[in-house]
Amino acid sequence: MNALCKTLCGFWNSSIGKKLIVAVTGIMLVGFLIAHMVGNLLIFQGRSSLNDYAEFLHHFLHGWGIWLFRGGLILAFVLHILATVSLTMQNRAARTEKYAHEETSKASVSSRYMIWSGLTVIAFVIFHLLHFTVRIDPELASMKDPMDPSRHDAYGMVLAGFQNPVVVLFYIIAISFLCSHLSHGIASIFQTLGLRTEKTRDPIQKLGLTITIVLWLGFLSIPFLALFDVIGDGDTPPKAAPVTVEASSH
Ligand code: HEM
Repeated sequence: MNALCKTLCGFWNSSIGKKLIVAVTGIMLVGFLIAHMVGNLLIFQGRSSLNDYAEFLHHFLHGWGIWLFRGGLILAFVLHILATVSLTMQNRAARTEKYAHEETSKASVSSRYMIWSGLTVIAFVIFHLLHFTVRIDPELASMKDPMDPSRHDAYGMVLAGFQNPVVVLFYIIAISFLCSHLSHGIASIFQTLGLRTEKTRDPIQKLGLTITIVLWLGFLSIPFLALFDVIGDGDTPPKAAPVTVEASSH
């Protein structure tokens, strides 16, 4: 046990160990984003597709699946932030004024603002969880699928949740920051894993940019089209007139 603790502490205390943690947790988080975006796009197939998917997520492995998944996601998110903050502090303490100036002038805009885009993403995730997972708005929490009132209406909730232009604007800003964070972060993962060479630099840059643009368009298409009523089957009650069924249990 002592030896394991020593190894883990040694790994955490080394700069390469922390960079590896940032890279591996970064891969997990990008994987989550791709899966989440693909799942969300089911909204374009209609109410039953999105609600079936949401029901599957909540009942997978008798309800344990989502909690296992949440545990992994929280661990990855927390480790990603702690290792990044620790690396930034370590670098600040180590570098000289001259080095700092050279680095800043060479760095791209998104890499210089990594910490700020990262903080915006944290604020967004907290808001988003309160919005759609905890559902602090009782109107959104009480929505039931008109075809199957025994289950929550994720479809109606998303459409109603994006009727407010201020909320949509916040999603646009936050997801744009998230994508700016990813445009630099994805290439950095390859660098840390030693896969970025002269030959692979360009394809990696293009891959990072493609993933970022697909995520940006995929995520933002939903609030944008919902706000302008382009999505919807006309069966979703407007947010001002909620369906009053008993509160959701999730
Ligand atoms: C505008 C695009 C998005 C839509 C429409 C959307 C929709 C949703 C919905 C409906 C849920 C609740 C699922 C359920 O409990 O049935 C959810 C959960 C979640 N979303 Fe999003 N989301 C979007 C963007 C994002 C982004 C960009 C992130 C990350 C930065 C994110 C992170 C999460 C997380 C962490 C959860 C909680 C998953 C869980 O239940 O454990 N979402 N989202």
